[in-house]
Amino acid sequence: MSQEQDKIFFRNFSLVLAFIAVMMITFYLTADLITGKKEHHETNKREITSNSNITSGDLVNGKNLSQTCAVCHGADGNSANPIWPKLAGQHASYTVKQLKNFKNGERVNAQMSGMVAALSLQDMNDLGLYFENQKNNFGSAKSESIDIGQKIYRGGDSETGIAACMACHGPAGSGNPGAIYPSLSGQHTDYTAIQLKMFKTGERNNDTNSVMRSIAKRMTEAQIEAVSEYIQGLQPR
Ligand code: HEC
Ligand code: HEC
Repeated sequence: MSQEQDKIFFRNFSLVLAFIAVMMITFYLTADLITGKKEHHETNKREITSNSNITSGDLVNGKNLSQTCAVCHGADGNSANPIWPKLAGQHASYTVKQLKNFKNGERVNAQMSGMVAALSLQDMNDLGLYFENQKNNFGSAKSESIDIGQKIYRGGDSETGIAACMACHGPAGSGNPGAIYPSLSGQHTDYTAIQLKMFKTGERNNDTNSVMRSIAKRMTEAQIEAVSEYIQGLQPR
């Protein structure tokens, strides 16, 4: 090629590149417009407080996906077996965080890791929204555990430096969706106790800034049992 041909070739080549770029941008913008419009017309879509860039979920898709979860967590998110957590009424933001953690290995559980492998971020949001909209069937606490349980839950233990659970999980155990503090009210005693023991040993370590590990490691087994029992009996007023 002569220098002149070279120049022409590169000019044409850059024109082609510019054309491709313009086409890509146009495609992107139209695709966005179309999906944006679709969302606007669908009635199942709801806004959720989410820790991801997806801020809406689809209740119908969530319900469909939840069929595979029902065998352990119950069709409405109220599990029958006390070692399987209730998901009913849990904040979508917290459920989504846990599902993401199971998928990326930050929280390890053999039963759950298989369940999340095929879920997209949108699926997780849809599931989170579905379970948030189910009613927790709550429970009760054994009377002999209420005194110790309530003392720790509401006031912590100043001698051993245990923070009051209420400070983050709320006076009635409702948590805080924006801060991703889970709702605890009505959760099975056995499941809660297992989680506190796993935070204590560090086997569960997906809590940001070790917030739960640093609390649980100061708790005695007796305190764990009592506060877990108390939590099962907590109900939002
Ligand atoms: C074979 C039983 C089983 C199935 C099916 C199952 N799970 Fe789980 N799930 C568990 C167990 C066991 C745990 C507790 C894990 C642990 O101890 O850390 C759990 C924990 C969870 C948690 C954490 C709850 C919390 O309070 O931290 C979420 C969220 C969850 N599962 C969602 C789902 C979803 C969504 C599905 C369906 C796509 C599903 N699970 C299917 C057994 C199951
Ligand atoms: C400073 C805030 C804070 C305090 C105080 C606190 N928690 Fe938590 N707790 C959290 C956060 C944040 C998480 C979620 C961790 C994660 O992202 O997995 C959590 C998670 C939990 C879980 C796991 C719930 C589930 O569904 O798996 C239990 C159980 C729990 N806390 C019990 C307690 C108890 C009992 C106390 C009091 C002794 C307490 N927490 C005090 C912030 C707090």
